[in-house]
Amino acid sequence: MSADGVLPAPPVRVPGDGVLLREVREDDHARVLEAFGDGRTALWNPGPTTLAGVEEWARGRNDWDGTHASWLVADPHTDDVLGAVSLFKIDLDQGDAEVGYWVAPWGRGRGVAASAVRSAAAYGFGALVLRRLHLFHAVENPASCGVARRAGFLLEGTLRESYRYADGRFHDEHLHARLATD
Ligand SMILES: CC(C)(COP(=O)(O)OP(=O)(O)OC[C@H]1O[C@@H](n2cnc3c(N)ncnc32)[C@H](O)[C@@H]1OP(=O)(O)O)[C@@H](O)C(=O)NCCC(=O)NCCS
Repeated sequence: MSADGVLPAPPVRVPGDGVLLREVREDDHARVLEAFGDGRTALWNPGPTTLAGVEEWARGRNDWDGTHASWLVADPHTDDVLGAVSLFKIDLDQGDAEVGYWVAPWGRGRGVAASAVRSAAAYGFGALVLRRLHLFHAVENPASCGVARRAGFLLEGTLRESYRYADGRFHDEHLHARLATD
């Protein structure tokens, strides 16, 4: 355990630029299910396909059990579901974590993912005193590469056939990372 970073149990709300990172509420569930029905999300970041599955997913996301800090990404004006972002595999001893995200089709193409990742990273480097955040995406997913670049995560290399995605194939992936000192 780091002497500095402490992960609180209940989700902490984080305001961002055009986004609000918050807990998942019950009245979000139908919208979350709709978002997970999107083909790209189903391929690159699959999630539950039933309302019961969303309930379980939401319970996990809202339970910061010491390994992750996860948020629903909401529109700060309408409070509608825009997506989700997570710092996971948090290692307070090493001071690092991985970042994951998706944005619903109706929220795409206007900087939501990049803003959400920047806000989550600010929380990780600030409250959790992490020093390095990394993320992986399939080489065939240029949208995710754009998010990484836009959120200040430098490309560190290409991993060969490193992860099996939902199409059942192992894909080459880009490894991107951002340091607290960047
Ligand atoms: C990847 C994803 C999160 C992008 O969300 P978004 O909110 O539309 O992304 P942003 O608007 O923040 O875009 C960030 C950058 O990526 C670029 N980008 C976004 N979508 C793109 C696309 N389809 N092709 C190429 N570049 C794209 C943007 O142009 C922007 O760069 P810029 O500011 O230099 O113009 C969204 O498409 C998604 O949820 N996809 C399915 C799930 C997924 O891939 N999750 C990540 C798994 S690693």
